[in-house]
Amino acid sequence: MLADLSGKTAIITGGGQGLGFGISTKMAQQGANLIITDIDDRNKSAISDLASKYDIKYLYIEMNVTDQSQVENGINEALEFSDVDILVNNAGVAGAPGSTGTVWRDEDWDFTWEVNVKGLHRVTEAVLPHMIEKQSGKIINISSVAARAAKYTTSYYATTKMAVIAYTQALAREFGPKNINVNAIAPGRILTNFHKEWVENRKKLGDTTTDLFSKEALGQVMPLGRAQTPEDIGALAAFLASEDAKNITGQTIQCDGGQVMA
Ligand SMILES: NC(=O)c1ccc[n+]([C@@H]2O[C@H](COP(=O)([O-])OP(=O)(O)OC[C@H]3O[C@@H](n4cnc5c(N)ncnc54)[C@H](O)[C@@H]3O)[C@@H](O)[C@H]2O)c1
Repeated sequence: MLADLSGKTAIITGGGQGLGFGISTKMAQQGANLIITDIDDRNKSAISDLASKYDIKYLYIEMNVTDQSQVENGINEALEFSDVDILVNNAGVAGAPGSTGTVWRDEDWDFTWEVNVKGLHRVTEAVLPHMIEKQSGKIINISSVAARAAKYTTSYYATTKMAVIAYTQALAREFGPKNINVNAIAPGRILTNFHKEWVENRKKLGDTTTDLFSKEALGQVMPLGRAQTPEDIGALAAFLASEDAKNITGQTIQCDGGQVMA
């Protein structure tokens, strides 16, 4: 089986819904045990169903990636549960609560940076010593098409997602000699709560031109024109987490129906 993850254990931040759940699903399908972390216990029962379906072990940890002590405690709990082979830094936001993307608010810059960049680093920093000791590990960071297309996005969100690419490259250089692969995935537009909330906020402002997911709207930005799914991202994450991808590091791979070609 390509991307066989039998007996491996993966931490997936923000794994309770959206892309994180698609990544959890694909990892479980490939045999990985799951440690799901999220800000609360959303969709805990869905993770439990996944574990039963694929006969894997799982642990669910409530952990806000912006809170240093929650991250330290959460990762300690994870490491007591199992050796960790894979870390997927997926938790992310596109602005502070109530963001419409129409005005530049300081709180949007700060909140987005705190979750998407500092939060990602906080979790990585907590897991890395374990991977260094084992001399093996796979880290996958979720960036975005927004980093490279800088279209249909906000400056603060695009900036954080470009920072994720730079962080990925720096870590890949620093920890390659310790046999740790670090890569990023840049997903395209996928309908999750992330977009639903944004569209609702825009509608409240009277903006009715927000149907980004019609066949026509998708066809305008990506050659494949199909509605992408969280499992599309999960399939790539599972591959990057596997030994089949052992020669790949420092890369950001677009998984976006062809929106960005570089
Ligand atoms: N949906 C898209 O079109 C799209 C495209 C490109 C990149 N992304 C990225 O994919 C990732 C997942 O997005 P999604 O679309 O599934 O969104 P989502 O809102 O459905 O899921 C995000 C998850 O992150 C969690 N999270 C948010 N803040 C957190 C915090 N402080 N601590 C812990 N968990 C936190 C949420 O609880 C949620 O489970 C994000 O990094 C996002 O930037 C999404």
